[in-house]
Amino acid sequence: MLSLRTASRALSKSAPIAAAASIGAVRTKVSLPDLDWDFGALEPHISGQINEIHYTKHHQTYVNNYNVATEQIAEASAKGEVKKIVELQKAINFNGGGYINHCLFWKNLAPEKQGGGEPPTAESDFAKKVVEQYGSLDNLKALTNAKLAGIQGSGWAFIVKNKENGGALDVVTTPNQDTVTGPLVPLVAIDAWEHAYYLQYQNVKADYFKAIWNVINWKEAEKRYLIN
Ligand SMILES: [Fe+2]
Repeated sequence: MLSLRTASRALSKSAPIAAAASIGAVRTKVSLPDLDWDFGALEPHISGQINEIHYTKHHQTYVNNYNVATEQIAEASAKGEVKKIVELQKAINFNGGGYINHCLFWKNLAPEKQGGGEPPTAESDFAKKVVEQYGSLDNLKALTNAKLAGIQGSGWAFIVKNKENGGALDVVTTPNQDTVTGPLVPLVAIDAWEHAYYLQYQNVKADYFKAIWNVINWKEAEKRYLIN
């Protein structure tokens, strides 16, 4: 078991995707963020076994493959191999997206005894926006669950703030490991890949989508809403 206490610092360092930066011969690789909680701390809603495999195998693979792809792009760039650079964009999109999405995911989950599932502070700007647009947090959850249920194959659902629309909230889904960019600021990211739930929920993914609200870290969503 890893010691999982320094997540905030690690995430804030690694999440901005420093890896693609190339300054002369110096390139920075991304790495797994530390977590704020132990693998078993989200039980009974998400099993420790799922979290451990999800983090040490799946997320690690996105990290590794993203780092390889950035190395290959640097080499192709040095040789002027434009076609190769274009081809590598798929690997960057998939593995870089997987890296970002999972960093968001771990941070927007919390054990119940650390505030997981507690609604956002009623006076917060985020909570007020939720009520203004959706009437209640439960309505936003229901909408998100409907969107999650509509994902065909693997993908993600995001509660986002749209910076080009007066900061309006929205719920969007993406296929595979596509992440949200541009004016869409991710506030909550929910992994709808089978690897996120299958060991515990098998084919009943709707139960996973219901259970995950018990460990959503709304404090993190409030923070993201304010700083972006
Ligand atoms: Fe995942």
